[in-house]
Amino acid sequence: MVPFLRPRVEGDLGSLLDDPAWLHQVVDALGSPVNLVLPDRLARNVAEFRDVYRAHHLSGGVYFAHKANRSAALTRALAATDAGIDVASLGELQHALGAGFGPARIMATGPKSREYLWLAARTGVIVNADSIDELAETAALVTAYGLPRVRVMARLSGFVTTGTNVMSRASRFGIPATGTAALWDTLEKHRDQLDLHGVAYHLDTTGLPEKAAALEGCLHAMDEAVQRGLRPRAVDIGGGFGINYLDDEKQWEAWTTELTGAVLGKRPPLTWNGHGYGLRNEAGTLRGALSVYPAHRSVAGPVYLDRLLRTASAAHRRPLGTLLLDSLYDLHTEPGRALLDQCGAVLLRVEEVRGDGRGETLVRVAGNGTDLGLEQHGVQMDPLLVSRGEPGPEGPAGVYLTGNLCLEADFVTRRKIFLPRLPRVGDLLVFVNTAGYLMDFSAGHALMQPTARTIAAFRTGDDWRWCLDERYWPVTGREEING
Ligand SMILES: Cc1ncc(COP(=O)(O)O)c(C=O)c1O
Repeated sequence: MVPFLRPRVEGDLGSLLDDPAWLHQVVDALGSPVNLVLPDRLARNVAEFRDVYRAHHLSGGVYFAHKANRSAALTRALAATDAGIDVASLGELQHALGAGFGPARIMATGPKSREYLWLAARTGVIVNADSIDELAETAALVTAYGLPRVRVMARLSGFVTTGTNVMSRASRFGIPATGTAALWDTLEKHRDQLDLHGVAYHLDTTGLPEKAAALEGCLHAMDEAVQRGLRPRAVDIGGGFGINYLDDEKQWEAWTTELTGAVLGKRPPLTWNGHGYGLRNEAGTLRGALSVYPAHRSVAGPVYLDRLLRTASAAHRRPLGTLLLDSLYDLHTEPGRALLDQCGAVLLRVEEVRGDGRGETLVRVAGNGTDLGLEQHGVQMDPLLVSRGEPGPEGPAGVYLTGNLCLEADFVTRRKIFLPRLPRVGDLLVFVNTAGYLMDFSAGHALMQPTARTIAAFRTGDDWRWCLDERYWPVTGREEING
């Protein structure tokens, strides 16, 4: 069995990729790699999150985690929806303000420089604080610059669970949920500068029980704050709703099984130099843990949010969504990856196909491991092969994808990719569903190689049009809107 990992491609993204001549024209014109983004799809994904809010009768903000993609087109398209934006740096805050977000729709998270904190406080966005010191610094800036009271959220971490056996992982971010007394003291002390909007968490996990325990911990903290005479009104549950990258769960199960076999030496390697993605062979025994993104997820995105809200609280035995509603609390979310589902692709041109002298085939592309963060983010999926001219003979070809950096370690992915046929120089490899983190999160200029140009594609009627990312605004191509 060939260990394919066929990507999930839907709707508009699928129809756009169905036009090989267009894809080649774009790469010929702009060079490889090209990042393609679909702003309209982002608006649809926001609407799907909103449907879940509606089903649970909850209000509050869906704040897109900007860090997942730098595109101006996506940010501006989002500004035209009812969504908010979660910014995590001074640059992202400036970008969001310039894209059309008013301060009421912006949440400032992440590590904050003084400049970032000042602009956040000055413009009146919600400051989602990572520590008590950060709250005190915000209060000091408000006083020093005579600013209006700032809405703040307190990010918590290290939740202790009651009764259940759920581990809450350690985090470098957030105020310990077990030590909130000092937090309430600080907020009371700076009552004239800080307005407690609510409490927050963001957990870097796919585990639903862990998230449920954190949400429950936040509800408990809200009670404590109310008892201290504060008036919090929102719980922010961060992001991490995830994407299902693969079409077929069986292919994912087969690949993970085969990888285990390869690590144990029971089959030929499936990765460059036998890399185990966290697994290792200790004298014939499998050790370690597979540390890759669960590329096939049957519960992801808005469905994951719905599941979380339906999860019963361990202490109250009622759904967490109902507890939020009963308290009339707003629910804020910060989905990054999930809102970018089906919103983009990366196009790479094949530059060389050769043997490595040890029986493997190396396919070098014009792009590298920083242009496409598959390894950094642990995502495993196949690219689509878009031939130039007549395709070569059909038949699965297992190849390794190398990048254009003069570095031994520069692989687009260390996984052996199985393509339907051997690519040829000039063909394109298209990695779909890469708008979330995989596209430009770590793109740089190592070796002075060019980074990808980003283009936005959108429909007008039945036709597809495109423009450079920086030229896109929500009104672009909407000739039907006439005064
Ligand atoms: C504070 C915060 N919120 C939201 C997110 C978005 O997470 P995701 O893209 O997994 O939804 C992140 C990601 O790192 C984050 O740090």
